[in-house]
This record gives sequence, structure tokens and C-alpha cells, in this order.
Amino acid sequence: MATPSGQLPLTDHPADDPWAGLSREQLDAFWMPFSGNRQFKEDPRLIVGARGCYLHSADGRQILDTLSGLWCSSFGHGREEISDAVSRTIRELDYAPPFQCGHPMAFALANRLRELTPAGLDHVFFTNSGSEAADTSLKMARAYWRLKGRAEKTRLIGRARGYHGVNVGGTSLGGIGPNRRQFGSLVEADHLSATLLPENRFSRGVPEYGAHLAEQLEELVALHDASTIAALIVEPMSGSGGVIVPPRGYLQRLREICDRHDILLIFDEVLTGFGRTGSPFGATLFDVRPDIMNLAKNLTNGAVPMGAVVASADIYRTFMNHGGPGYVPEFPHGYTYSAHPLACAAGLAAMDIFEKDRMAERAAAMAPYFEQQLHGLRGLRHITDIRNLGMAAAIQLEPHPGEAPRRPWEIARRCWDRGLYVRFAADNLQLGPPFTIEREEVDHICNVLADVIPSVD
Ligand SMILES: Cc1ncc(COP(=O)(O)O)c(C=O)c1O
Repeated sequence: MATPSGQLPLTDHPADDPWAGLSREQLDAFWMPFSGNRQFKEDPRLIVGARGCYLHSADGRQILDTLSGLWCSSFGHGREEISDAVSRTIRELDYAPPFQCGHPMAFALANRLRELTPAGLDHVFFTNSGSEAADTSLKMARAYWRLKGRAEKTRLIGRARGYHGVNVGGTSLGGIGPNRRQFGSLVEADHLSATLLPENRFSRGVPEYGAHLAEQLEELVALHDASTIAALIVEPMSGSGGVIVPPRGYLQRLREICDRHDILLIFDEVLTGFGRTGSPFGATLFDVRPDIMNLAKNLTNGAVPMGAVVASADIYRTFMNHGGPGYVPEFPHGYTYSAHPLACAAGLAAMDIFEKDRMAERAAAMAPYFEQQLHGLRGLRHITDIRNLGMAAAIQLEPHPGEAPRRPWEIARRCWDRGLYVRFAADNLQLGPPFTIEREEVDHICNVLADVIPSVD
């Protein structure tokens, strides 16, 4: 029997429910990632299907997915082009060793990405996630300078509120405090300030003020000397840190400073890649070309884990020209599942959808309506800022006096009961629906948020 909130209690499930009767001990067997395990296991929210913009919950409801899963299923869930390609492939080639061997789909997908990414980013190294892409790009940058005979260029710079996944490099270069606190400093890293400025509250799209913050990179150069700095890694738009849109001119200035001091610029486009900003990449929207671009998420529309690091010709050539016999790996790095056939099949099918269905244009077309409706929430109790770019937005909330992260959680929890999946962070709610969303669904999101946000303490 359903509870008043629509949730089924754990002990009272229909017989065909796949998780009926799971005891607390059984639930505890799965140590869930980035989750409040204790709360979840008191009150599980299980998803058993996904189609289009909706998740299907185990208690038989359709939940509107306001974050494309985790920003990764942006072309809509359940795309049959992808599932067909993956099922065809698994029957033919379940696995191919990626070290000193290859399979054709890996080369096909690399060429596809070479065509899609900005000119000059031409060489694709495959990983299995955005976190692995981050650490791969950082290792690539340090190895590049060694190969260039400048082994002292090792220092890495990130940005406060940045997110580059959870591996050793990404944790260190990332700038979300709670993600780092338990681990201490894993790799030495410096950080620029976040570009979240009070002057820009309630900006629509790219804020006008704040490009001067890029000059902090000059300050770090003055402090450490450019001869010690290998690379700067930033997201063109910080996503997990709360949709922080770079001020006009900021990324251009970072590019200029990197050029002036021989610092590699890495754009982590794991979240912005393939249309989220309304342009294919952050690099294309802001017209700034990085030396390395990291991709994941929409690369397979979230269907199979995959990441990629796309490097400039100069970087690739530097590795290829380093001398030594041709059979010796130029970059001693890679994963058992790099360029896995199923991921490549999913990636090729997802790229077909991206191009044929003109996904970036579709995101750009819906973005003004999404912006207008979301900013209509301004003035509601607890809301201190609303930010957006393309089909990404964050709603900043005044922290709860006694328990800072409580409000976003409470709101997301109540939204789930109302049929909306909403991602929450310590002080904000994040929205990034599939690009296939319709206007009425955007209205529905805003109506539910307008009810729920003021209703929490
Ligand atoms: C910009 C960015 N980099 C890296 C990652 C980590 O990706 P993954 O969770 O696939 O390791 C994410 C995930 O949200 C991301 O948004």
C-alpha cells in the first residue's frame, strides 16, 4: 500500500517488485556513491526504467528527470539507436584488448570526435569516465613537459568550486570543499577563485562582470614562476559547483595568460560537451581553444561508461617524436576498458543522434524559454540567486541556520514525491534536463519548484 507521499514502504511491495522484501542488511551490501546511505536505506528511491525525459520508479510513477540522469543522458533516455548498436556489438565483439591491439570502432569514434571538436584538437585517448579523463589529462600534461625537456614544469592549477571527478588528480585539482575534506591533499595543487560574484546575482546567461579574476593566474605565475607550472584545468562552465557561468572575456584572458607563459590549458568539458551550453562545446561557445579537452557523459548519452581526452597535434606529436623503438608505448597509460567495443558502439550511435537530431541547436532553441521560466522563481523565499546558460541552471539557496545543507536536500526530497528528480548540492539546486524537453515540462518543473521551495523551513 502506498504511503501518503506516494512512496511504497519497504515491507509492503507488490510481488513483482524486484526489490520487494530487501532487508536493511541487504540494502547495506551496496555502499552507494555520493549518497546519504543511511537516509536512502530508510526510504529507498529506486529507478527501474527510463524513457525520454522520465525515470520510472519502482513504485510505478513517472519521475521527470530534471538533470538528464547526472547531466549525461541529454539526448533523452532509452534511445533505441544506442541500445540496438550495443546489443549488435556485444554479440560480435564483447571485448578486444586495447594495449598493442585495436578494433575498428575505436578508430571510427576517434575520427568522429576529431571532426566534432574544434579544429586543432585531433587525437583522442579513451578512458571510462570523466574522472579518468581528468587524471589522464593531468598526467599527459606533465609528461608533455618532460618530453619537451622541461621536467620542472610540474605544478597544476585548478579553480575553487571546480569539479574534475574523484580520482587522485581530479580530487586535488577540484575545488568543492566537502569532496576534498576527508582525503587531505593528494597532489599538490593551486586554485584560482571561483567566478561566483555577488555583482552577478540573477544574471541571465553570461555575466558581464568578473573577467579580471583571470589575472589571478598571473599572480600564481609571479609566485611560482612559469617554469614550474605545467597546466591549468578548468570547466568552461562549472557544473557540479553550481552552474557558475564564466564572466564575459574571462576564458579568453586565461588563454592569453597560458600562451604567454607556456602553460597548457585543459578544458574539462565532461559536462558541457555535446550541447549543454547550446553550442557543441564550451570551447565553441566562448571561442577559446584549449590544448586538451576532456569529454564523457553525453559521449554515449550515459548508456555505457566512457570518457575521452582530446589532445592538440603538438601534444600528440611531442609524444610520437620522443625517440625509442616504435613498439614501446609513448604514453605508458591506459585502462583495461579503454575504447571498450560496447562504449564505442554507444558513442558512435550517440554521435549520430547528436548530429542528425541537431542536439546543440535543440538545446539552444529551448534555452531562452528555460531561462525565462526559471527566472520567474526570483523573489521566492530562500532563493538568493538564479544562474543559467543553455540548458543548465542553478538555484542558490540561503543556508538553513542550524544545518547548512538541509534546505536543498529537503526540497529535492519533496520534489521526488511530486514526481520530479532534482539534483541538490550543499547550497544549491541544479537543473539540466534533456534537450528533448518540451515547454509544458519546463513549466511543470517551475510550478513544482515554486510550490516546494518556499514550503521548507
Ligand atoms: C566537469 C566534470 N568532470 C569530471 C566529472 C567526473 O566524471 P565521472 O563521474 O564520469 O568520473 C564530472 C562529473 O560530473 C564533471 O562534471
